[in-house]
Amino acid sequence: MKVLSVVGARPQFVKLAPVAEAFAATEHQHVIVHTGQHYDKNMSDVFFADLRIPAPDVHLGVGSGSHGVQTGSMLSAMDAVLDEHKPDWVLVYGDTNSTLAGTLSAVKMHLPVAHLEAGLRSFNRRMPEEHNRVLTDHAADILLAPTQVAMDHLANEGLSDRARLVGDVMTDVCFRVRDAVTDDSFTLPEGLKRGEYVVSTIHRAENTDDPARLAAIVDGLAAAGAPVLLLAHPRLVAKCAEHGIKLERPDGSLHVREPLAYPEMVAAVLGSAGVVTDSGGLQKEAFLLGRVCTTLRTETEWVETLEDGWNVLTSDVSKLPELAARPVPAANRPMPYGDGQAAGRVVAALAE
Ligand code: UD1
Repeated sequence: MKVLSVVGARPQFVKLAPVAEAFAATEHQHVIVHTGQHYDKNMSDVFFADLRIPAPDVHLGVGSGSHGVQTGSMLSAMDAVLDEHKPDWVLVYGDTNSTLAGTLSAVKMHLPVAHLEAGLRSFNRRMPEEHNRVLTDHAADILLAPTQVAMDHLANEGLSDRARLVGDVMTDVCFRVRDAVTDDSFTLPEGLKRGEYVVSTIHRAENTDDPARLAAIVDGLAAAGAPVLLLAHPRLVAKCAEHGIKLERPDGSLHVREPLAYPEMVAAVLGSAGVVTDSGGLQKEAFLLGRVCTTLRTETEWVETLEDGWNVLTSDVSKLPELAARPVPAANRPMPYGDGQAAGRVVAALAE
């Protein structure tokens, strides 16, 4: 069997890692296509290096652009790649523009498509990721769902016969890295103490594209009550620069750093008192690593994290002082995201 994985953005490299490892342990051929959606070294290359992912076989070098331009550039480059490799499966991951482009090109060329992380829904049609998920699920031939909730969403849309519950590959990689890192895997910036700081990432259009909202979020983080380690996504940095919003605060309330490599991120979360984010992946990583999370959104695809208050949704940054570093819930954490063996099931489902 020959499987061609299409990836392009940071969360997809994380999901690719356990899948590539599972393929490497078999006779199957695995071709990796990087669209180039994320191109900064710390948004892309470090993930391949640290998570020991083989270098991409093909790099489309597409880069940034409006949704149409970015997705269209990927689409126009994919035909030749699929024509050359003629895979048995095109495997797409998650919900980015790279996911949608990989799916559309494969469908048009009558190649079977498998969607990893199928069935997630925010039910917020203004999110680009929601269009990407829905369109991909309805176009794909096999839907590899991470959770029962995702299976239920697929059933509600009449897609049960294509759906398989495989578990969450992010659990595979998160637990593997958690077991390998030590306290020294991440050097804390001066002024931060283990167990007393909050890790934060902000990148979603709904939080970054309106200058008033963005300024309120940055001020809200600086007033969170615990010092915040803000791992600044390029979109956040670019939008703050465009609108004259200052990120660094001389009082030490906000420590701004570039995005971290995956093992450093896991170590930073393990050393923290909590996470404040609008990222889907980080919400779940906080949960898997047993840290409280405050999600600056009105909805989440990972609803299981909300049970018992491990994750709390709010758009109101004035609530951060009470939420950001709140105590961990007393109840035992449920384990709805699989057993850390999902990638093997992905390979088996495709081979079958
Ligand atoms: C994308 C995904 C989102 C995912 C996120 C993870 C879509 C629609 N969105 O959002 O689902 O959660 O990745 O990070 O696919 N930029 C750089 N260097 C880079 C990458 C981006 O400077 O390596 C800047 C560019 O100015 C670009 C902006 O960040 O315009 C946004 O990048 P883009 O890929 O469009 O979307 P993300 O916000 O990263």
